[in-house]
Amino acid sequence: MRTRTLSDGRVSLRVSELCLGTMYFGYRTPEAVAFDILDRFLDAGGNFLDTANCYGQWHGDAGESERVLGRWMKSRGVAGQMVVATKVGARTTVAGNPDARLWQGFGSRAILADADLSRRNLGVDRLDLYYAHIDDRDTLLEETVNAFAGLAERGTVGLLGASNTATWRIERARGLAQRRPSYSCVQQRYTYLPALQGPGEFDMISEELKDYAAAENLTLFAYSPLLGGAYCDPDKPLPAAYDHPTAQARLAALYEVAAQLDASANQVVLAWLLHEDRPVIPIPGVSSVAQLEETLAATELKLDDSQLARLAGAGVQC
Ligand SMILES: NC(=O)c1ccc[n+]([C@@H]2O[C@H](COP(=O)([O-])OP(=O)(O)OC[C@H]3O[C@@H](n4cnc5c(N)ncnc54)[C@H](OP(=O)(O)O)[C@@H]3O)[C@@H](O)[C@H]2O)c1
Repeated sequence: MRTRTLSDGRVSLRVSELCLGTMYFGYRTPEAVAFDILDRFLDAGGNFLDTANCYGQWHGDAGESERVLGRWMKSRGVAGQMVVATKVGARTTVAGNPDARLWQGFGSRAILADADLSRRNLGVDRLDLYYAHIDDRDTLLEETVNAFAGLAERGTVGLLGASNTATWRIERARGLAQRRPSYSCVQQRYTYLPALQGPGEFDMISEELKDYAAAENLTLFAYSPLLGGAYCDPDKPLPAAYDHPTAQARLAALYEVAAQLDASANQVVLAWLLHEDRPVIPIPGVSSVAQLEETLAATELKLDDSQLARLAGAGVQC
């Protein structure tokens, strides 16, 4: 698998071009299956994993995905080889109740305490990439910026990132940080189909964010790139935000290119993300080794100019 370098000019991380999503590990994906998936990912050259301190809380056990990764890295002796991104801010403060109104947010105490908790869960000294999982507008941005910068300055974390956050808020946070460490990675929802965004929703990669990232040398990450399996599984309907008139033209182009390449629609979506002028790092989820094999094969897929033009030109952006 090809690799990419993430850097904020201070810390550099060499990562595989696919980042494996582990949101359901220890929850929908049993630990033994997760270990098989992780073994195969490592064997294929993958070293980059995405988790969060809250994953698992929807069945009452926040941090279970981190703990599964920690147990796997320890049992295989590979903690030094892997680059693990985790997130803070969306863990519930009331065990067993994941209601968003109870999430911890970004007071400095929560950030510092949970960085230590995530290090213990993962069994590592340093969190390689630490994201603000959400945009908490109830906490003074200065407090959040200072807490994250302090963690990076002390070496508790490597790089900093933001997720589900409006571009102007990322820019403001980076401005407040001045010369101190700040966000160099941005993780948003993104796939081949454009999504309709409702008022107050800032969780997508927009053209504005792409422009900002190019100008400021930020790395972009696409979460949920496979729409939970809806591209390939006839039993899974398109999520409502993607089910709009132009989606059909996009899907027709996707399936046409997939047929030309004898590939699956999932593979073409991932290859398309990796082919963009400034590639986005996809964070696909898989629940079996077979799904992982399909995902890994996407990194070998070549899209020629006419296929890229067909994909780019289908439908209109909305
Ligand atoms: N920053 C954030 O707020 C945020 C939010 C969501 C996710 N994430 C990250 O993004 C990662 C991926 O998210 P996601 O799970 O929503 O992503 P996704 O990649 O859109 O969907 C993954 C699901 O697609 C299905 N799938 C995969 N390969 C398939 C195949 N070959 N055939 C049929 N179905 C297939 C599987 O569903 P089945 O298990 O049903 O088979 C799998 O669990 C997460 O693990 C997490 O790390 C971040």
